[in-house]
Amino acid sequence: MAEFALPKNSRVQPGRKHPAKAGAKNVKEFRIYRYEPEDGGNPRVDTFEIDLADCGPMVLDALIKIKSEVDSTLTFRRSCREGICGSCAMNIDGHNTLACTRAIEDVDGAVSIYPLPHMAVVKDLVTDFTQFWAQYESIEPWLQTYTTVPEKEFDQSVEERGKLDGLYECILCACCSTACPSYWWNSDKYLGPAALLQAYRWIADSRDEATGERLDELEDPFKLYRCHTIMNCTNTCPKGLNPAKAIGEIKKLIVERKA
Ligand code: SF4
Ligand code: SF4
Ligand code: FES
Repeated sequence: MAEFALPKNSRVQPGRKHPAKAGAKNVKEFRIYRYEPEDGGNPRVDTFEIDLADCGPMVLDALIKIKSEVDSTLTFRRSCREGICGSCAMNIDGHNTLACTRAIEDVDGAVSIYPLPHMAVVKDLVTDFTQFWAQYESIEPWLQTYTTVPEKEFDQSVEERGKLDGLYECILCACCSTACPSYWWNSDKYLGPAALLQAYRWIADSRDEATGERLDELEDPFKLYRCHTIMNCTNTCPKGLNPAKAIGEIKKLIVERKA
C-alpha cells in the first residue's frame, strides 16, 4: 500500500498506524483526521487497516468497528444509521456526505475521512454546529398563521402539498453549507444553502401566512445575496436536494413582488 504523504508545511501531522489483524484477507486503509483540543492543538491523521471481510458495507460501519475494537477515543456523531438524522455528516474522500450511506466499496484506494470543512472542530470528526442552528432558528422554521385556526386541520390540495417535495426531506446535515465557498468566507452573515432551503420550505407552504415578512427578512445583501450559484451545495447534498434552486426561487419571489 502506498505510503501516506501529507502536503508540505501541513499543520496536520502523520499520526498512529494501526495495522490489520493477522490473517486479514481484504484490507482497506482508513486515514482519519484526529484532533484533541487538550493535546496541544496539533491535528494528526491516523491510519487504520480494516479487514472488510469482517466489517459492514458503509463507512460508518468501519468507524464503529474502529471505535469498538481498535481505538475507543475516536469521536464522531451518529444516530439513525439510515440517512435520516443527519448527524454522521463528514468529508469522505473529498466530498461532504453521510458516513452511513456512503459505501466503502465506492471509494477507490484508501478512505480519507475529515470533519466537515470550515467549521470549528470540537474533537476528531465532531464539529461545532452552534452557528448553523442559530441560523436555522433565525428563519423561524414553523408554520405561522394569523387567521382563525381551523377546527380540525389546515387543508392543502395535492398540488399545494407537492410544492414541498424536494424541500421537506432536508435533514439539516450541513453538507451543503459547508461545501459552499460563499459560506466559508461569510458564514457569520450569509445564511448558507441549508437555512435558505428551509426558509423556502415555509415560503412555499400554502398554509403559511408570513410570506411577506419572511421575504423582508431575507432581502439582505449578505443573508441571501452572497449565493453566487456556484452549485457546490446541490452537487454534494446526500439527499439529492437542490438548495441552489430553492435560493433562486426566493430571489425570484423578491423580484416579482416589486414588479
Ligand atoms: S439540503 Fe441536503 S445537504 Fe443541505 S442540509 Fe439539507 S439534506 Fe443536508
Ligand atoms: S449555489 Fe449558492 S449556496 Fe450553493 S454552493 Fe453556490 S453559492 Fe453556495
Ligand atoms: S447516522 Fe443518521 S444520517 Fe447517518
